[in-house]
Amino acid sequence: MSKPKVVLGVSGGIAAYKACELLRRLSESGHDVRVVPTASALHFVGAATWSALSGNPVSTEVWDDVHEVPHVRIGQHADLVVVAPATADMLAKAAHGLADDLLTNTLLTARCPVVFAPAMHTEMWEHPATQENVATLRRRGAVVIEPAVGRLTGVDTGKGRLPDPAEIFEVCRRVLARGATEPDLAGRHVVVSAGGTREPLDPVRFLGNRSSGKQGYALARTAAARGARVTLVAANTALADPAGVDVVRVGTAVQLREAVLKAAADADAVVMAAAVADFRPAAYATGKIKKKDDQEPEPIVLVRNPDVLAEISADRARSGQVIVGFAAETDDVLANGRAKLARKGCDLLVVNEVGERKTFGAEENEAVVLGADGSETPVPHGPKEALAETVWDLVSARLG
Ligand SMILES: Cc1cc2nc3c(=O)[nH]c(=O)nc-3n(C[C@H](O)[C@H](O)[C@H](O)COP(=O)(O)O)c2cc1C
Repeated sequence: MSKPKVVLGVSGGIAAYKACELLRRLSESGHDVRVVPTASALHFVGAATWSALSGNPVSTEVWDDVHEVPHVRIGQHADLVVVAPATADMLAKAAHGLADDLLTNTLLTARCPVVFAPAMHTEMWEHPATQENVATLRRRGAVVIEPAVGRLTGVDTGKGRLPDPAEIFEVCRRVLARGATEPDLAGRHVVVSAGGTREPLDPVRFLGNRSSGKQGYALARTAAARGARVTLVAANTALADPAGVDVVRVGTAVQLREAVLKAAADADAVVMAAAVADFRPAAYATGKIKKKDDQEPEPIVLVRNPDVLAEISADRARSGQVIVGFAAETDDVLANGRAKLARKGCDLLVVNEVGERKTFGAEENEAVVLGADGSETPVPHGPKEALAETVWDLVSARLG
């Protein structure tokens, strides 16, 4: 079988050097990569580097090797085009269909999935012109990864940083795996909660749970690869931020509720994969609780936490919003799942069996997705990503 053909477009941003790592990852995982830099990109990283690392010729203009008609052929034969970094200028050209160099010609002739990984200063990213260009590209089906927040060129910090090449590679891998299918979540905003809440007892102790956040992160990554704008509300996770996802960090169930309600206001779907504590200590000791030699410890009195899933299901922020819950059960898994689905009023409930060595922290999962319409979709044992894809298939069908 021939290798999948990837065009790596590189435009003239300071993060162009990071595209070398993306190129390596793509080549080493069996892709035939043709790098198409812009003339500005070559100010940052020279053609020799792209050519030597990819094993393919490199040109920026339509006038080289004209007999091969590269301005048409490169795009026509590609299985994926990824532009990383994508400058503000490149997003504008792509949105308006300009074709004044080899990369912009390639973008017009490509009929395969296209991924843009923008990187620029915060002001350039937030400018209405850039935002409208991004919206245009997304509406047409391109996957535009949200930039990361962090150190920019010089001393500035903010949103606009190129996400980690490993994360961009993950998006490319998933987009390629989906093939020529249109990104079905393009133009949608989805909210995913992940991890486990911690309910503090005193400044050093908390009541928590074993959730690692891996399932929620898999949901966030796969939604981004299917074109969605994703807000990930992450409770106490130690995982790398997925590329193209807005991450909101929270600690307690009350904080998680606030963040989810805020993000859900304009969301098309909310997937509550986080393990949210049902109870929290009634009192918080401002100083560390001391052990007293002559006394038994005070019992911990608990109070109920807000039921976020029931609340967002009952008071949907938008009509047609799809709400998905997760039920972690240790016994009577399906019966408890059905009862929970009815009680919470969500559209879908992913029911999985958990235990000390099951699901929590693992790379794999096995579940049944119950629908409020009586449907039942079993998902066999496999990567958390596969379960995430099934959840989005079901959400996408309900979004119409
Ligand atoms: C040092 C330096 C760093 C730059 N970094 C960026 C950047 O990160 N993002 C961006 O959109 N433009 C950046 N620019 C501006 C672009 O290089 C400029 O808009 C250029 O016309 C882009 O051309 P291209 O889109 O054809 O590659 C930078 C310019 C310089 C001189």
